[in-house]
Amino acid sequence: MARIMAVTSGKGGVGKSNFTLNVGICLAMMNHRVRILDADLGLANMDVLLGIRPNRTLEDVILGRLGIGEIIFKTDYNVELIPGSSGTQDMADLGREQLEELVKQISAVSASSDYLLVDTASGISAGVISFLMAAPEVIVGVVPEPTSLTDAYAMIKVLRKNDYPGRISMFSSMVKNSSAGHNLYKKISSASQRFLDTHVEYLGSIYHDDKLSRAVTDQVPAVVRYPTSDIARCYRIIASTLLGQDSVEADHEKFWTRLITMLVRAPKHKVVPAGQAADTQKNGDLRGMLHKLLDEQRRTRELLERLVEKIEQHDMSIRPKPGSFV
Ligand SMILES: Nc1ncnc2c1ncn2[C@@H]1O[C@H](COP(=O)(O)OP(=O)(O)OP(=O)(O)O)[C@@H](O)[C@H]1O
Ligand SMILES: [Mg+2]
Repeated sequence: MARIMAVTSGKGGVGKSNFTLNVGICLAMMNHRVRILDADLGLANMDVLLGIRPNRTLEDVILGRLGIGEIIFKTDYNVELIPGSSGTQDMADLGREQLEELVKQISAVSASSDYLLVDTASGISAGVISFLMAAPEVIVGVVPEPTSLTDAYAMIKVLRKNDYPGRISMFSSMVKNSSAGHNLYKKISSASQRFLDTHVEYLGSIYHDDKLSRAVTDQVPAVVRYPTSDIARCYRIIASTLLGQDSVEADHEKFWTRLITMLVRAPKHKVVPAGQAADTQKNGDLRGMLHKLLDEQRRTRELLERLVEKIEQHDMSIRPKPGSFV
């Protein structure tokens, strides 16, 4: 049965999606069967990071159009992606029996993988929290900014107040070095221990590294694009730390039921006030633009690389051979 870990944060933009993807790839490189579930229902993150556009999502499974096996996307990096989807009106009509049937079908994913890493939206919304409560392990990402610390603490507090039974771990993100990362952990763990009587485990730190932003632009995961970089080493160390942890008891059916419930309730096609509807439209447009920009950037880079190659070949061909006269 898969070990299920949900990656989240109080504040957005801390590096969760990159963490999920790169740590997942490291675990796969260590010969484990890894699946990543993209459950961030705002902007799907994984497809942008991977430069892919899966056109089948969990929505197709929930509506009975496809089986779970048909939506699992094989990436180039030995990890498989399960694209999430926010709710539609049809999904909201799901009855109890249908839900149970679906859970049976979808939870096959747990049986046929070793690790299921779930990338979630940041922040404390009722839907996300209720879903996190059913995840056997929650990993919180924190960056060295006061708001990130307080938001992460608030997230742990909400889990604690709801009697979260699983394991809470954290990673420090965008830090200067490992001692800065550890300091961040000490702040969170001592506050959680003292005021919430809650233990938080430490997974390690991810350094701030411009190579990560470059890898994101290239739409190639950092551990693949820059395997010898500091940041790739950070992700590998965290993957090894995860491997060293004891397993946590997990109620897989509960997890999948909550996941489906969260997707079904996510407000994509619900009747929304005009202003919000415009926002949804705007998000779609923005996403299209982002894809276009990244495509363009990649094409330009490829073109430049080919040009440089040609110039180098040309230089070689006109360079005099040693000992010859021109
Ligand atoms: N370790 C790092 N070093 C440098 N830049 C980073 C690092 N981690 C993240 N970033 C920057 O932050 C951006 C957002 O990262 P990512 O998408 O992984 O965050 P996220 O927490 O998933 O965001 P969201 O809350 O929007 O889902 C990246 O595109 C990159 O530019
Ligand atoms: Mg993200």
